[in-house]
Amino acid sequence: MPVNAGSRPSRVWRVALVGARRGSSYGNLTHADPRFEITALCDANHDSLAAYQRALGLDDSRCFTEYDALLAAGGFDATIVCTPIPYHAEQSASAMDAGFHVMSEVTAANTVDGCAKIVEAARRTGKTYMLAENTCHRPLFAEWRRLLDSGRLGEPIYAEADYIHPIPQLLVDADTGQQMWRAERPPIHYCSHSLGPILMLTGDRIVRAMGIGAGTRILPEGGVGGVDVQLGVFETAKGVIIKMTRTQVAPRHRPIHYYHIQGTKGFVETDRLGPEPGSPVQRGLLYVEGEAEHTQQVEWPEVDTTYPDYATKGGHGTSDYHTLLRFLSALDAGGKAEIDETRAWDMTVPGLIAAESAQNGGAWMDVPQA
Ligand SMILES: NC(=O)c1ccc[n+]([C@@H]2O[C@H](COP(=O)([O-])OP(=O)(O)OC[C@H]3O[C@@H](n4cnc5c(N)ncnc54)[C@H](O)[C@@H]3O)[C@@H](O)[C@H]2O)c1
Repeated sequence: MPVNAGSRPSRVWRVALVGARRGSSYGNLTHADPRFEITALCDANHDSLAAYQRALGLDDSRCFTEYDALLAAGGFDATIVCTPIPYHAEQSASAMDAGFHVMSEVTAANTVDGCAKIVEAARRTGKTYMLAENTCHRPLFAEWRRLLDSGRLGEPIYAEADYIHPIPQLLVDADTGQQMWRAERPPIHYCSHSLGPILMLTGDRIVRAMGIGAGTRILPEGGVGGVDVQLGVFETAKGVIIKMTRTQVAPRHRPIHYYHIQGTKGFVETDRLGPEPGSPVQRGLLYVEGEAEHTQQVEWPEVDTTYPDYATKGGHGTSDYHTLLRFLSALDAGGKAEIDETRAWDMTVPGLIAAESAQNGGAWMDVPQA
């Protein structure tokens, strides 16, 4: 079924794209999709702005290096915020205050106060805010949702969601030796790719968190972002325990997202190889009590072949496109996105608290609710 089925027919939504690097993924998709039109572009770096301006064919008058000037100019319905995470709270909130809807890249913000600012602005203005947590929209998880809804796994009791992705080149500039913004991001802060799908599939939220990990043997010049590895343990309102391992420096190729859900009647998990480049398939394991004697090897598609050809232009199979369509659905319906400001909080704040716990020797800490 089309993702925006059931809502009013789509009009053309005019968007301003902010941040022209990762932003070009959503830029390429919105540019290709007839239900969107990019009418403005903003990037603080003049060269990045000019390069993507050419790709989009935008007039100089619609391109901005200053975010405030973009908001003042208007001429769009929504902003797609793809800037470094420390800017998300201010840019998302001020866009909603100026009367625009927002789709924001992950994570929602780098502080609890920043997340609160987004929640407050969205609730006060009534504007649609959506966290573009694209891992939630992998075709894989549509299948896991059916599996969980069928009851075959029983009740979820335990989950794992590791994200192992060495990006030393994005922490320290190899030419200048200068730290970049990700050097100030503790690895466990970047938690929504991991926790997002688990919380979405279980309809749950995290109430307590603890974290450990402070060693810097691999990239000592990489700031807190260069911490070798961090481990977070989370407890949910429904009593599920979630374990998350996270590093942005430990060597491993291919990088992986690893997910595991253990229920009272069986388990499902992705493998630890990750999809082969060019192969739109994620492999994994499934065991359902009473259905088979042993654990079975299974595979799930990474590409939804019902989408148009341009749906892979964002990257990540078709999950970026599906993410954009979720935003479209919320805009068309004039309502909340599935991953709205409250769920954005649920998927972001636990990692911020786990990082605080790691600073305090791994103490259990309550996770505040939005
Ligand atoms: N969902 C995913 O799979 C995925 C993948 C990569 C990055 N991201 C997210 O996308 C966002 C951007 O990441 P990136 O890798 O493109 O970062 P980046 O630092 O490579 O690029 C950010 C761009 O924003 C511009 N910029 C910086 N400050 C700005 C400001 N105040 N106003 C306007 N423009 C500004 C920079 O000039 C740059 O072009 C982050 O939130 C990151 O977590 C998500």
